[in-house]
Amino acid sequence: MLLHIPEVLGKNEVADFRKKLEAATWTDGKETVGAQGALVKRNLQLPEGSVLREELGQRVLRALAASPLYFAAALPLRTLPPRFNRYEGGGNYGFHVDGAVMALPPVAGQASSHVRSDIACTLFLSEPDDYEGGELVVSDTYGEHEVKLPAGDLIVYPASSLHTVQPVTRGTRLASFFWVQSMVRDDVRRRLLFDMDTSIQTLTATRADAGAVLTLTSTYHNLLRLWAET
Ligand code: NI
Repeated sequence: MLLHIPEVLGKNEVADFRKKLEAATWTDGKETVGAQGALVKRNLQLPEGSVLREELGQRVLRALAASPLYFAAALPLRTLPPRFNRYEGGGNYGFHVDGAVMALPPVAGQASSHVRSDIACTLFLSEPDDYEGGELVVSDTYGEHEVKLPAGDLIVYPASSLHTVQPVTRGTRLASFFWVQSMVRDDVRRRLLFDMDTSIQTLTATRADAGAVLTLTSTYHNLLRLWAET
């Protein structure tokens, strides 16, 4: 499921992110991919140990925690610390698939842990008119989908899909990206739960029959109980 989540960050917050990112020191994006990705990845990233990356990443996570729509779509269990990238001067990222399992940063005194990348997210930080190209193209069983969203908006898509970022031929494209292990690993099941959840919200808001809403709500939770891994 591809889902567009509008206004995860407000315009003032996005402007503050951009100001800080424009003054930052960047490194080659090849540093965080395997051999296959390195062949096709041409962009810049904030360095892994960057203080700014940590600060802005925390702000992204706080914004996500305040979004019921994001929670309903992702049912997040573990999230990799968000990274930040920059494409300009023809920079692009050819078709690739993301790694299936990624290490979480080590925490002192704890065993190392990993995140299975069920879901990939891109949070757009540049306005679409400020750059040419730079579409995220996600390929799934229904074909190819081009995504280029207003600054502050998020796209959620299955990390299992092949995807690419088209060359940025004018201006600069700034974005944050991260991966999520969902409580429900299967995209089809996640989609069913999401549709049921949003329908229950609508039925509640439109004062539908309370008994029927209660039965549906109970069914939602019982399906989640069947399918969730925590
Ligand atoms: Ni990718």
